[in-house]
Amino acid sequence: MLTKSKVQDFLKEIEVDDLVSNFQVMGNDVYIDMTSHSPAMHEKKKLEVAMKQAFASEFGEHINLKLKIASPELPATPVTNEIKGKQIPGIQNIIAIASGKGGVGKSTVAANLAVTLAKMGFKVGLLDADIYGPSVPTMLDTEGQRPISVEVNGRNLMKPIENYGVKMLSIGYFSGANQAVVWRGPMASKALNQMIRDADWGELDFLLIDLPPGTGDIHLSIIQEVPVTGAVIVSTPQHVALADVRKGIAMFNMESINIPVLGLIENMAYFTPEELPENKYYIFGKQGAQFMAEDLGIPVLGEIPLIQSIREAGDVGRPAALQENSKIAEIYTKTAQNMVESLVERNTNLPPTEAVKITTMAGCSPKKK
Ligand SMILES: Nc1ncnc2c1ncn2[C@@H]1O[C@H](COP(=O)(O)OP(=O)(O)OP(=O)(O)O)[C@@H](O)[C@H]1O
Ligand SMILES: [Mg+2]
Repeated sequence: MLTKSKVQDFLKEIEVDDLVSNFQVMGNDVYIDMTSHSPAMHEKKKLEVAMKQAFASEFGEHINLKLKIASPELPATPVTNEIKGKQIPGIQNIIAIASGKGGVGKSTVAANLAVTLAKMGFKVGLLDADIYGPSVPTMLDTEGQRPISVEVNGRNLMKPIENYGVKMLSIGYFSGANQAVVWRGPMASKALNQMIRDADWGELDFLLIDLPPGTGDIHLSIIQEVPVTGAVIVSTPQHVALADVRKGIAMFNMESINIPVLGLIENMAYFTPEELPENKYYIFGKQGAQFMAEDLGIPVLGEIPLIQSIREAGDVGRPAALQENSKIAEIYTKTAQNMVESLVERNTNLPPTEAVKITTMAGCSPKKK
């Protein structure tokens, strides 16, 4: 007969007793609540398999082990960088919208989040950091506009363009935009810096930065110069996109950069045809982002469906999230709320935003978990 004390001795013998918070034995059923050493999904799975094998070989195959494995409490990310970046007066939170991969919908997500946050009553700015392929002017119907110059406290600043309650700047508004495609890293970084620091953004709750694809010069320059509060990562469920996302996240996690990742937005998570709005087709695979997010210990902020009207709305310059009482507006509102919650948590648990100076990329290593 299986007894509680036999199980207790065995848990000690296999050296997991310190992970077990509670256990019960009822006939052949053994209920165990325990905490894994790591929040990573594969570690939890490994622990589950090892426990099942150990119990089966010790007490026999007829024993039903009912395991509940919880994640450990994560300590707040330690921020050890020296403060080097200058705060930007008036701007509360700077959020980088990023992904390792191109074409996953960063700009679409950034535009929709910006108008959603504005609808929620926040003061919002959107900076198009894609010097080589700006999309903000088209996506927010401000193509062909030119920022005027205004004098603020004796300084000449450019005034962001405004539409749908969002202030925005993009290289696409400047007459030299066509030449920008041949700019090298330093020129591009300089232009970007001017759009951040030499602009009259006024008071903003959020400045969203729509980053270009990849993990190159522009990303490092922004991270170097601008006190980014947090990063939001966009991915599609496809395996290749997810692999690139890991690279993107690793960049924000580098010890010398250490920008908290607020969460992951899964774009094109499923397809919903207009005529069958309740149907969901997981054409790029299901829940890849969830598993990865769980594995990396970051939250999923939202799942945005692949909908024809999102693409059409982007092309005509009126983000789909502006469609009153639509499913897509509802999804974006929830996603924006989750982002704000994650941000509040970040601002409560971590020291104030710092911009970090990267002197050399050598020696940067992914942060140890
Ligand atoms: N959820 C969606 N449903 C339908 N179409 C979408 C969706 N998200 C993005 N698209 C479309 O996919 C294309 C690429 O999107 P977008 O330009 O936002 O990607 P990106 O990641 O910013 O690309 P890049 O890496 O070039 O900057 C656009 O035509 C856009 O309208
Ligand atoms: Mg883009």
